[in-house]
Amino acid sequence: MTTSIPVVLAGASGKTGREVGKAIYHADDMNLIGAIAQRHAGSMLTDLWAEPVPIVVKESLAQIQDPYAVLVDFTEHQSSYQRICEAVSRGWDIVVGTTGFTSEERESITQLVARYQVGAVLIANFSLGAWVMEQLAKQASQYFKKAEVLEAHADTKKDKPSGTAKRMAQLLADSWDTPVDAIPVHALRLPGMVAHQAVVFGASGQILTLRHDVHDRSAYAAGVLAAIRKVRSFSGHVVQDFGRIMDPD
Ligand SMILES: NC(=O)c1ccc[n+]([C@@H]2O[C@H](COP(=O)([O-])OP(=O)(O)OC[C@H]3O[C@@H](n4cnc5c(N)ncnc54)[C@H](OP(=O)(O)O)[C@@H]3O)[C@@H](O)[C@H]2O)c1
Repeated sequence: MTTSIPVVLAGASGKTGREVGKAIYHADDMNLIGAIAQRHAGSMLTDLWAEPVPIVVKESLAQIQDPYAVLVDFTEHQSSYQRICEAVSRGWDIVVGTTGFTSEERESITQLVARYQVGAVLIANFSLGAWVMEQLAKQASQYFKKAEVLEAHADTKKDKPSGTAKRMAQLLADSWDTPVDAIPVHALRLPGMVAHQAVVFGASGQILTLRHDVHDRSAYAAGVLAAIRKVRSFSGHVVQDFGRIMDPD
């Protein structure tokens, strides 16, 4: 008999957290043991998710006393950074979808993860399509030498440009050995958008457009479940490449 993986979800009331949380709740090999949010602290997940999950949402990790869980975090970067440091110091593995961390914060998370020998996954986009788009963009950048990145998200998204767009710009800059600032990134924030990205490559007389659209946040759930199952095996390391999650065991 396999034991189920205990999971604490931060951002349980959020647009992405709700979708990811329901997938965790329904996964046979996972056990959702805690949930965290800000304004919705004190609510029952049963009410928030319309699912029979009798868990009261807490406002901080300190209120969850279990000895071990995987922390899954889809919140906002400032509180997330504090929560990640607390979880890692408690010996918990972490799967983080929250975006907007500074390079200094990323560096200090990397050091903490190595010190406590926990596993960490920090991925700016857990959707399969975004990862495939990166592979295609790498290939296209071998032939095209100019491109611009366009991204569009709901007007509630706090960081701009998105972590996925920044990663794409870096990928192109690395491929062409140019500074990342040389790759223009355009960001729209509008109601009605979910998460959309295009990379437009231009060459004489032609353009090539790669485009990915997330219409609903369930697009992220399968990647997050795969990361929860694998994160222990990354002990001491921060994995930022979705391809590592997709690798067969
Ligand atoms: N990696 C990926 O694939 C991926 C995909 C989608 C989104 N994201 C990222 O995930 C994050 C959340 O996005 P979203 O669109 O789901 O946002 P959202 O709908 O605004 O949800 C934010 C969640 O964070 C909670 N929260 C905010 N401040 C908090 C605090 N100080 N302490 C505890 N909880 C707090 C909110 O709780 P209350 O509702 O109770 O205030 C809510 O549950 C963003 O950084 C976004 O860029 C990543």
